[in-house]
Amino acid sequence: MDGLRLNLGSGMNPRPGYVNVDRFGTPDLRHDLETFPWPWTDDSVQEIVLNHVLEHLGQDPNVFLEIFKEMYRVCRGGATVQIVVPHFRHDYFYGDPTHVRAITPNTLHLFSQRLNREFIRGQFANTPLGLYLGVDFELIETRFKPSETWFRLHPEPQVDLEKLLFQGSIYNNLIEEIQMMLQVVKPPSGAAVP
Ligand SMILES: C[S@@+](CC[C@H](N)C(=O)[O-])C[C@H]1O[C@@H](n2cnc3c(N)ncnc32)[C@H](O)[C@@H]1O
Repeated sequence: MDGLRLNLGSGMNPRPGYVNVDRFGTPDLRHDLETFPWPWTDDSVQEIVLNHVLEHLGQDPNVFLEIFKEMYRVCRGGATVQIVVPHFRHDYFYGDPTHVRAITPNTLHLFSQRLNREFIRGQFANTPLGLYLGVDFELIETRFKPSETWFRLHPEPQVDLEKLLFQGSIYNNLIEEIQMMLQVVKPPSGAAVP
């Protein structure tokens, strides 16, 4: 797959081999990602990286949804979108006034047409954003980075994931960040809604 690689909100960490984009500084391209359309053609991108960026974008939910529509438009089928965010129960999330919302695996599931059809079949209340917006992203990988606090409580190097997720669902500051990988599904899998 020979498309563009975009490092969106590159800040002070540009990546070689990527088009580094930010609204500040001296990236390869200065662009406000809340301004549409984005300056790339349909199906031209094979990889997007958003490292500690998505939680800064789209305070207005309509702008947030437009960002997903633009990512879908510019990506080709099979493209990946790597999203790393601070965990919503960590002080790193609360400490930055430019964080506009928590991003969780469940946030990203809303953009999967396969799961949207399951919501509909199960009469769940989740909003089927994939079907509503005509986008389709599958969450193919989720990793949880334990914090320093976790390792102080549990110094053994082998992390018990079940315990991390259970205790991390109750207590603050045990999980530092969530690393998620979306894959773009084109054509959308949910064209026919039952
Ligand atoms: C926390 S920094 C992360 C920087 C970089 N990705 C890294 O890993 O070090 C967030 C970056 O997103 C950029 N950013 C925030 N809102 C943006 C927008 N609307 N358009 C473009 N860049 C934006 C900021 O300027 C900042 O450089």
